Amino acid sequence: MRNFIICALNWVDERFPLTAMWKAHLSEYYAPKNFNFWYFFGSLALLVLVIQIVTGIFLTMHYKPDAGLAFASVEYIMRDVPWGWLIRYMHSTGASMFFVVVYLHMFRSLLYGSHRKPRELVWLFGVAIFLCLMGEAFFGYLLPWGQMSYWGAQVIINLFASIPFIGPDVAVWLRGDYMVSDATLNRFFAFHVIALPLVLLGLVVAHIIALHEVGSNNPDGIEIKQNKDPKTGIPLDGVPFHPYYTVKDIVGVVVFLIVFSVIVFFAPEMGGYFLEANNFIPANPMATPPHIAPVWYFTPFYSILRAVPPMFNSQFPGVVAMGLSVLVFAALPWLDRSPVKSIRYRGPLYKTWLAIFVVSFFILGYLGTEVTTVWGTFDKETWIVGGVDRATVVARICTVAYFLFFALMPWYTKYDKTKPVPERVTG
Ligand code: HEM
Repeated sequence: MRNFIICALNWVDERFPLTAMWKAHLSEYYAPKNFNFWYFFGSLALLVLVIQIVTGIFLTMHYKPDAGLAFASVEYIMRDVPWGWLIRYMHSTGASMFFVVVYLHMFRSLLYGSHRKPRELVWLFGVAIFLCLMGEAFFGYLLPWGQMSYWGAQVIINLFASIPFIGPDVAVWLRGDYMVSDATLNRFFAFHVIALPLVLLGLVVAHIIALHEVGSNNPDGIEIKQNKDPKTGIPLDGVPFHPYYTVKDIVGVVVFLIVFSVIVFFAPEMGGYFLEANNFIPANPMATPPHIAPVWYFTPFYSILRAVPPMFNSQFPGVVAMGLSVLVFAALPWLDRSPVKSIRYRGPLYKTWLAIFVVSFFILGYLGTEVTTVWGTFDKETWIVGGVDRATVVARICTVAYFLFFALMPWYTKYDKTKPVPERVTG
């Protein structure tokens, strides 16, 4: 048997670099030996990607991309398809968990400076993945054809209509109609099930190839390739990814699956944060829900949109601010001019700004779930003060703090009082 396997492997290796790839990316890919739990989130993002693709395939077998049938087909999946409820809840929970995992994965970079040279491309592929993921979530949300799907899409597409001159035409082009309709549902379905998943998969492969070209960063922010064993050429602080981290990552996977299962089985709606009550009502173009809010993972950006006052009766400035609040992440490798990478050796300035950024992000996220701001009236009950309600004031302060974190970064990272970085990783 053993000989047969070796022969088969040799046969494959002569035609395809299977063993070479296994070595380059697993058994002889040397990762720093001091990874901590923050390094679980990359492999967890991969796991959620697989969960979404597999459950998505099964959902597509029963779902009908037709404005007259879509809502009922989702109900059919929930009630009549064997295990359909499980597949659907795994997919809806998976969408939110994807963002939880990816936000933590991105935050790890801010902690340890993983976006810095030589990993700029790893980071840029990551930002592209994030954009793609946002698109994927947005397109997918229309598919159940509930009230929130319908009106959420309406609001977001209308934002494009605020672009000067070409906006209204762009909005019609995106919808494929003058209102969100069957044509919109069909194209969103095409984007959600094939176009964006293909791009996403390609970007994830590029992300990992780029990472393996330069090697992983670590909680000390030290380049382990600078300290190699002179005889073997292996980094002294490196361990083979397989078996060390394949085994360690299983710990993260188990903990993640426990949390994931608890949500899927006991709280799939997550109090309206993962699945909103309004989306259990079929889409009705004649009845606008009183409170339209995006799903929680979009709310920080949505808050920024609402915090920026309209100009000449146009929401365009808010749209630009919202777009910038996501795109600005791409500039991070060049904004950060600190001589050290890891938070362990950074000074008080970076730590303070990072804390301000995180707090602002959370407050903006919370405010984005709250009822839409009313402009220009005064009412004690709704907290309207001098034409602007207090929530808007808070959202504006947080928006300014959010952007200052990036805008001032070249200065506070350069002049921060850093600590000396050790030669070798500390564990
Ligand atoms: C589908 C989404 C994603 C997947 C599957 C994914 C996968 C991975 C994996 C497997 C790793 C190596 C393990 C680790 O360091 O945790 C990694 C590293 C990394 N990822 Fe991602 N990633 C995703 C999204 C993102 C996003 C959105 C960003 C940033 C905007 C990002 C930035 C990075 C960086 C900078 C590293 C290097 C970390 C280091 O060496 O310290 N990734 N990613």
